[in-house]
Amino acid sequence: MPAFWSWFIAGGTILFIIWCVWLVSWSAKQGPVQKTDSDLVGHRWDGDLEEWNNPTPRWWLYLYFLTIIFTIAYVIAFPGLGAFDGVLGWSQEGQYEREMADAAARYEPIYANFAEMEFEALAAHPDANALGASLYASYCTTCHGSDARGARGYPNLTDDDWIWGNSEQQLYASIFNGRTAVMPPVPAAFANGEAELRNLTRYVRSLSGLVEADDAAEAKAPVFATYCATCHGADGTGNPLLGGPNLTDDVWLYGGSEEDVYTSLAEGRNGIMPAHGQLLGENRTKILAAYVYSLSAGR
Ligand code: HEC
Ligand code: HEC
Repeated sequence: MPAFWSWFIAGGTILFIIWCVWLVSWSAKQGPVQKTDSDLVGHRWDGDLEEWNNPTPRWWLYLYFLTIIFTIAYVIAFPGLGAFDGVLGWSQEGQYEREMADAAARYEPIYANFAEMEFEALAAHPDANALGASLYASYCTTCHGSDARGARGYPNLTDDDWIWGNSEQQLYASIFNGRTAVMPPVPAAFANGEAELRNLTRYVRSLSGLVEADDAAEAKAPVFATYCATCHGADGTGNPLLGGPNLTDDVWLYGGSEEDVYTSLAEGRNGIMPAHGQLLGENRTKILAAYVYSLSAGR
């Protein structure tokens, strides 16, 4: 906070407290000592019920003074006067960090115990999975859904179809380092114009049996072999090293309709799984990897 605003706020607060003290003391002295008729305020109810201009009751004033004393003690103890930190040294960040450190001290040994286990055993351990499920609920549901079935552009983690693979190392890497999928738009040299791109689309959809490839589509097979195969595999079953999905099954990240596949080819796709390593650390990443593995294991 710039010094000027700090002094402005601190000065304003102090002046306001002084003004409150003055106002309460002043109003304590108001009102008549000896009541005469001129001290009636002039309100009259039910014929003879009248209101006097009485001083504020003492106990009421004391309550005001108590709140003022509380305020003074508060701004001395806690941050409240501009940039002054308060003598107790309390701060929001400090409290947050203390709570996080407490939680880490309490839970980290539990995480560490689980993380030492062998991966398959961890994935089959009910307590580890319960922990994994709660981590999943905090960090992953926004994108992969509360049931982990994903959505368009966000892979389903419960089927046995993996873009980047489901070995321990692959799942760990997906979560810890994140994944950046690069599907470039098909260059004109490989499919020039809409008609050719439609033929290529038809060829791609024929790989999973969605349509029959006619001659024009079949003529695109060499394009697939020279250009697409690097990332999607020679037989179209995908390449986990580059995140090229399997194009021969009925699982589609962006949809398998004619329009969806056409758009994938014409515009490219760039799915991003953010890195969670910094956030989770190694132990929790391993617990989550095992939990994700358990979602589809044995299916
Ligand atoms: C440089 C690597 C690369 C090349 C070359 C490439 N792709 Fe892809 N492709 C990918 C990646 C990675 C994805 C996944 C994109 C994502 O997850 O956002 C993808 C996604 C797709 C999809 C969407 C799949 C789905 O499940 O929705 C289709 C269809 C596709 N590619 C077809 C092709 C065809 C046909 C070619 C050749 C003309 C090709 N790709 C060339 C990397 C590549
Ligand atoms: C901001 C959205 C987002 C969040 C949050 C997110 N993911 Fe992802 N995740 C994605 C996207 C998008 C992909 C697909 C990347 C691609 O296109 O290849 C993905 C891919 C994955 C994969 C690889 C799937 C495969 O088929 O190989 C795994 C495993 C995964 N996420 C697990 C998690 C876990 C566990 C969490 C929670 C710690 C998480 N994700 C949080 C968006 C997200």
